[in-house]
Amino acid sequence: MSEKITAMLSAEDRAWVDETLKKAHIKLSKVRERSRAKLPSEAQNGVHDNKLEAQGPTGMAKGFWTNGFWAGMLWQMYDETHDARYQEIAKFTLPILDGMLLEMDTHDIGFLWLPTAVLEYKITGDKTALQSGLSAAKWLAGRFNPVPNIIRAWGVGDEKMALSKVDPPMRLAGVTIIDCMMNLPLLYWASEVTGDPRYRNIAMRHADMAMQYFVREDGSVIHINEFDPDTGAYVDNFGGQGYGKGSAWSRGQGWGLCGFTDSYKATGKKAYLDTAEKIAGYVLPNIPEDGLIPSDFRQPPEPWVQDDIAAGVLATALIDLAELVPEKQDLYLGVALKMLHAIDDKSADWDPKTDPITLHGTAGYHLPGRNINFIYADYYYIEALRKLKGCDTHLW
Ligand code: GLY
Repeated sequence: MSEKITAMLSAEDRAWVDETLKKAHIKLSKVRERSRAKLPSEAQNGVHDNKLEAQGPTGMAKGFWTNGFWAGMLWQMYDETHDARYQEIAKFTLPILDGMLLEMDTHDIGFLWLPTAVLEYKITGDKTALQSGLSAAKWLAGRFNPVPNIIRAWGVGDEKMALSKVDPPMRLAGVTIIDCMMNLPLLYWASEVTGDPRYRNIAMRHADMAMQYFVREDGSVIHINEFDPDTGAYVDNFGGQGYGKGSAWSRGQGWGLCGFTDSYKATGKKAYLDTAEKIAGYVLPNIPEDGLIPSDFRQPPEPWVQDDIAAGVLATALIDLAELVPEKQDLYLGVALKMLHAIDDKSADWDPKTDPITLHGTAGYHLPGRNINFIYADYYYIEALRKLKGCDTHLW
């Protein structure tokens, strides 16, 4: 979006955004040196882990789906500060990912190459990064199944995942998840830079399918849908990383809200904007009074399970919606600010001696890893703040 957003903020909020980004710079100038040769995915005891060292027999930890976010945050900070050291360290990740591309059997290609290759190309115009992003888009497009109109989520080897342990087991060839809406911008971008509509056509067929099958009547969003990959017949839906079947995994609401907003921005198709607003219509009344976001909007009151990742994703989407829907700008912007302030006040660590910024992300309601730092929570927090400053890198 643009400077228009900044004009919508109060002087007090503008000052808060500036001050928070300055705190991020003070902290990240130290963190970047400690983590300069890492692929961090989460922090334990204040220290980034390293997926590069954690690689298993297949080496796939190097291709772990969140491995683009550390570089993405560094690119955001380079764009913010023009401090060349951010750029130097950000460049560490992409060659590692490029070396893994042909082994990637996942839709997460967008999550990996958007904050690395595409962001580098957008910020610097680097032609190698452009080619890397386009190769990734081609690989992602190859996951499209034109019978159920889905981009297949997971790959061979994922059968053992806890999420697929349902009875009868899911046929992964027919499984797609709401998260995939966030991978579509790689395809929209590829059509934009090449002039070839194939990528956009695939993305729109997936987004049209998602409007029909993922968004419930009340505006809440399903995590996992399964189709028959041969006939396209609908099979079933699953609670996935949420509390259970029929629940509303907060991060999934964020992926849907952000994904449909992006699809509208890329195509101008009004139905996508209407769908994003329908999801917002479910989410907004469910935001807790204190602005901290639960892992699932339908989780039991106890224990409190928080997800700062969802907060950042919802905020980044609502900031865009505020600009796209002027009559609701105060509402959307107000909720985005409330969530971002809540993290700064109650869930952030700005100490330069520790690595994480946000402290209470949750992998999934029933998965190990509750109320801890995840790198993508920090990425979306920084991205949302930069959008409020009018510095949108137009990734999501
Ligand atoms: N895309 C998986 C997650 O949001 O955890």
